[in-house]
Amino acid sequence: MTYAAVTGWGKCLPPAVLTNADLATFLETDDEWIVSRTGIRERRISHVRLEDLAFVAASRALAAAGLDPQAVELIVFGTCSFDDQVPNQASGLQLRLGAKRAAAMDVNTACTSFLYALSTANAMIRSGVVRNAVVLGGELISSLMDWDNRGVAVLFGDGCAAVVLEASPREEGVLAEKLGCDAEARSTLVIQGMGGRYADFSRRYGATDWTFEGPEIFKRAVLGMSGACAEVLAARGMSPQDVDLVIPHQANLRIIEAVSKRCGLSQERVFVNVHRYGNMSAATVPVALVEALEEGRVQPHATLLLPAFGAGLTWCAHLLRWGERVVPRGTSSVQLPPCELTGLQLVEAHRRRRNQSEPSVA
Ligand code: UT7
Repeated sequence: MTYAAVTGWGKCLPPAVLTNADLATFLETDDEWIVSRTGIRERRISHVRLEDLAFVAASRALAAAGLDPQAVELIVFGTCSFDDQVPNQASGLQLRLGAKRAAAMDVNTACTSFLYALSTANAMIRSGVVRNAVVLGGELISSLMDWDNRGVAVLFGDGCAAVVLEASPREEGVLAEKLGCDAEARSTLVIQGMGGRYADFSRRYGATDWTFEGPEIFKRAVLGMSGACAEVLAARGMSPQDVDLVIPHQANLRIIEAVSKRCGLSQERVFVNVHRYGNMSAATVPVALVEALEEGRVQPHATLLLPAFGAGLTWCAHLLRWGERVVPRGTSSVQLPPCELTGLQLVEAHRRRRNQSEPSVA
């Protein structure tokens, strides 16, 4: 039997920080509301394109695995905020990495995109189509954000992370997965302005409008994620006590706490970094995984549980077994170009572009 072990991991967070106090300079909001309702204290705003974040994250993950980019056979890029829809995001990364032999595809299920991408790559490795893959979750939401809508502007941030999967005879990597979609609620989260129905160009890409029914998404997210967790544990005959660390989608601390409670998972075994980055959509789970490794929270042979939800409303949970190695084999010298602007200055530039109805260029 072939499995798909996780052998490399790397993240890339843009350096510019946008605090809750920064948001309160142009929105009717405050730190107390944002922290008490979401747990978020700050988020990152990118000064470069998603491809640049991905290049750094993937280079770090490949160095951690000790895998030459020329040996990569598959890139699966989980995102809903592509730099371009055609050509796809993964092909741009293939070119930057020099991974000439790699097939390259994008997967878009919004915030669950990394985990759906993980399932895709896992299946292709286990069925023998490829022997390895780079799987990414990355998002650049700041250029698509309606910065004058306080109901969404305080929630999201930019970031990217990648893992390397390699075929292994040992039972490592994805042990069980459950994926689904609550499509009856797909109208609860819609970003108007992205997609073919706007191709008459009467609307510019910079002027995206968000439909966002927060409380309804909240309820369905808790149900979807906790149901998926119960199913993957049952599939392996495991109980919540068998899980060493839960690394959930980081949209809202209250959602994470509600899911843990419903599933009987103790809060000490749940990794949380939503206070640092907000909701980075597809990037939340892989960035949290990388940080859990960096902080020594993942032990050799650990059992990890990764639940998530996103627009669609897609939901899923993955049960993962870690391997022996919890430290990178090597490091990469690839870096982002320096950023001269503050998070607030970057956001002000986005707001000016939106208000002038100019296309976004980030
Ligand atoms: O990953 C997929 C993405 N989706 C999500 O993550 C959404 C999940 N939902 C949530 O995280 C929560 O529903 C929110 C954080 C979005 C909202 O929290 P809530 O406790 O459900 O608040 P609410 O929407 O019921 O709003 C409560 C009040 C309202 O005022 P009134 O009507 O009670 O006077 C809002 O207008 O809070 C007001 N409000 C704000 N106040 C200050 C909404 N946004 C803000 C804000 N600052 N930024």
